[in-house]
Amino acid sequence: MSENFAYPVGLRLSGRRVVVLGAGQVAQRRLPALIAAGADILLISPSATASVEAMAEAGEVRWERRRYQDGDFEGAWYVLITTDDPEANAAASAEAEARRVWCVRSDDAEAASAWTPATGRSEGVTVAVLTGRDPRRSAAVRDAVVEGLRDGTLAAPRHRTRGPHVALVGGGPGDPDLITVRGRRLLAEADVVVADRLGPRDLLDELPPHVEVIDAAKIPYGRFMAQEAINNALIEHAKAGKSVVRLKGGDPFVFGRGMEEAEALAEAGIPCTVVPGISSSISVPGAAGIPVTHRGVAHEFTVVSGHVAPDDPSSLVDWAALARLRGTLVLLMAVEKIGAIAAALVAHGRAADTPVAVVQEGTTPAQRRVDATLATVGERAAAEGVRPPAVVVIGDVVALSSRDHR
Ligand SMILES: C[S@@+](CC[C@H](N)C(=O)[O-])C[C@H]1O[C@@H](n2cnc3c(N)ncnc32)[C@H](O)[C@@H]1O
Repeated sequence: MSENFAYPVGLRLSGRRVVVLGAGQVAQRRLPALIAAGADILLISPSATASVEAMAEAGEVRWERRRYQDGDFEGAWYVLITTDDPEANAAASAEAEARRVWCVRSDDAEAASAWTPATGRSEGVTVAVLTGRDPRRSAAVRDAVVEGLRDGTLAAPRHRTRGPHVALVGGGPGDPDLITVRGRRLLAEADVVVADRLGPRDLLDELPPHVEVIDAAKIPYGRFMAQEAINNALIEHAKAGKSVVRLKGGDPFVFGRGMEEAEALAEAGIPCTVVPGISSSISVPGAAGIPVTHRGVAHEFTVVSGHVAPDDPSSLVDWAALARLRGTLVLLMAVEKIGAIAAALVAHGRAADTPVAVVQEGTTPAQRRVDATLATVGERAAAEGVRPPAVVVIGDVVALSSRDHR
């Protein structure tokens, strides 16, 4: 039992001498953590890998180009032996033992007085795993724990010292796998989630029962505007000490009113974190096989809201300028006005046979794609019964993949 049982400890190496013998792949893997810990690293080796050499050049380690010699561990707190010279390793090990310096050996774990755990970090937590003689298992357990902490599947609530707080989380286009790792972790830590209709609704089912899920569309707004009512709900729950996540579709700052919410929270003195999301403007075309740019085809893509008709005086969009562009146009919230928008683009000079694809409910099991041209898209979308949410992609990039979809 005791032979295979190591006593775990966290070494605080800042400013303390650590000697590393050898500068091959093993040293290359170990050095970054020692550098991060602020150790005073003396590296002894006649040669080094290019990466280790770069660390020496950057002044992160002091490199002496020579072999080990007796006395090298003078003043050391910790040593790592990583050379493949068994004799030198044995001699170095003996010196470490005599000096009572903890010594790791990459060639012979049995002969070492210390073992390096498989380590990882996530959000201020260091995970270190020792399994005795099974380094692959250590690494696998470490990966599982770090991944779980990162994506929130390993529930480890913090004892919060922070006050009220709201996270504006971009949930991606709909597929629950397309939220960021940080977004998912914050969701797993939330007490209250205020969610939109769009975005990864499936993730809400995974939340533990104590989490209050509020449908943003159903917040009663009486004398307030809907957005103001949502802002107030965020502020009230945060002030009540809850960890609040505002889960939004796509990216919070792409037609997502994220900034209005961030401003309202700032005004109420509540700190907020914004977590970017994968916007439907790029990912939904991509999910339908359409790249928004392609070498030699489109050198730009422009994302436009189509919720206001081109002839509406409140429109902020210069459709004449957009019609002159050769690249890709991506329209969001444009299902209702697509006929009028296509006609305006053609009237201002974009070719009537420009390929168009309308992708409904992209990245979800209900995804479908309707192909047309600027001349026909209004009719086609109506005839096919296209409904929001849908992204409209206009431009030659559509033709790159349309053969399979017509
Ligand atoms: C209010 S905007 C929000 C956009 C979001 N912030 C983003 O970055 O994707 C809503 C519009 O996004 C588009 N959209 C969002 N998710 C979509 C999806 N899964 N499939 C197709 N369109 C989507 C539609 O055009 C929809 O009308």
